[in-house]
Amino acid sequence: MAIRNIVTKGDEVLKKRCKEVKEINERILDLLDDMKDTLYGTGNGVGLAAPQVGVLRRIVVIDVGDGLLELINPVIVEQEGEQDSLEGCLSIPGVYGRVKRPARVVVEYTDRNGKRLRKEGTDLLAVCICHELDHLDGILFDEKAYEFVYVENDQE
Ligand code: NI
Repeated sequence: MAIRNIVTKGDEVLKKRCKEVKEINERILDLLDDMKDTLYGTGNGVGLAAPQVGVLRRIVVIDVGDGLLELINPVIVEQEGEQDSLEGCLSIPGVYGRVKRPARVVVEYTDRNGKRLRKEGTDLLAVCICHELDHLDGILFDEKAYEFVYVENDQE
């Protein structure tokens, strides 16, 4: 297990569409472990997508305070309502933006054991699921934000 380098905006890898995971092998399990270490290593991050560590695979890890979620090949299968979020991104340090997101989503995903599961998210979890899944399609939150807040000397 290891902390991987987080790539920042400007790197082409963040603009690409990620490929589906076909087989959960040792490499994918190592990636999941490293993504967990990398997320917790930031101290304040709530989610991380594989392209942020330079890997173009459809994998995200999320922890909004309720424990770690590992999502392989995640797809939003239900969404409703709307909420305003103030988002940041580990790949865009110092920049926060207001984004309109669904109030509730249901994400279908594969876990590390290969089981297809569903998870409902509201509030911050709904925002985080949407933000991280956007990364898998090469979309950063600043493309969707309607207002920005800049923080100097941000430690993120
Ligand atoms: Ni992000």
